[in-house]
Amino acid sequence: MLKRPRRNRISKQIRDLVHETSISKTDLIYPMFITEGETEEVPSMPGVFRYSVEDLPNALKEVTNAGITAVLYFGIPSHKDETGSCAYDDSGIVQRGIRLTKELYPELVVIADICLCEYTSHGHCGVVENGYVQNDKTLELLAKAAVSCARAGADIVAPSDMMDGRVRAIRNALDENAFDDVLIMSYSVKYSSSFYGPFRDAADSAPAFGDRKTYQMDYRNKKEAIIETELDIEEGADMIMVKPAMAYLDIVKAVSDKFNYPLAVYQVSGEYSMIKAASCNGWIDEKAIVMESLTAMKRAGAKMIITYYAVEAAKWLEEM
Ligand code: PBG
Repeated sequence: MLKRPRRNRISKQIRDLVHETSISKTDLIYPMFITEGETEEVPSMPGVFRYSVEDLPNALKEVTNAGITAVLYFGIPSHKDETGSCAYDDSGIVQRGIRLTKELYPELVVIADICLCEYTSHGHCGVVENGYVQNDKTLELLAKAAVSCARAGADIVAPSDMMDGRVRAIRNALDENAFDDVLIMSYSVKYSSSFYGPFRDAADSAPAFGDRKTYQMDYRNKKEAIIETELDIEEGADMIMVKPAMAYLDIVKAVSDKFNYPLAVYQVSGEYSMIKAASCNGWIDEKAIVMESLTAMKRAGAKMIITYYAVEAAKWLEEM
């Protein structure tokens, strides 16, 4: 007898009955840039803005109306220095944005990205001495930044720097300051990737010399993803992450198979810009491509998806 798998695809209703993977609005996390300057669109990311604190409430109204329940904040300070001091200044730009957000939307989950590259004059993710990013000196500053964001009201801190031992350093500092209810979402598996190009325009954070290859991971490696994740869980991460997304779904699958931990995936700036550019040219069907991509990430094993498409995708999900 001929096997007929097509029978399970015979109508939309049957297909909906048997489908295995779906996306819900509550899976989506929306990354946002908060600037000390004026609100402006990011040239290489049409539809993505850097918001001034004054304009943040309007933006948040749209985000929450769309049904998005979590945001990821990046600060863009007007002052940068060698040690990224605005990252751990209680009156810094991201801290102000967090405080305001929590006043307006106490239930919105605020995740603070913890890194120094947006705040340092040299654009590296840590303290530079003799041309090399110093691991242990950076840990102290990351811990201070995490505590400062927690004090401002962040629910989750998300270290994206890739220094060794940062999850432990941050967990200890949070606990010492009575923030034991603040979660850590660790960028546990973060590759050194050219897909971050547009983000560095958005955050004005391209390294002034060299690259990030001595701390971010080498994309030729997969086993290292398991080692990095194991360490972060051991050190106290509550949630883990793989980044970027589309070109790394084999890594998402490997990490998801191995660890029973809430797993996030980050569809990064370059991924957004590529889809946006092609759709602005009328070359692809934007909505269909975005849904297919986000579904692939969940099918590979991700639970949460960080995406610049979060708000649009939430609206599309509502229509569907
Ligand atoms: C900060 C950070 C970066 C991204 C997230 N956090 C940039 C980098 O590592 O260069 C990239 C996000 C994106 O491309 O959307 N370290």
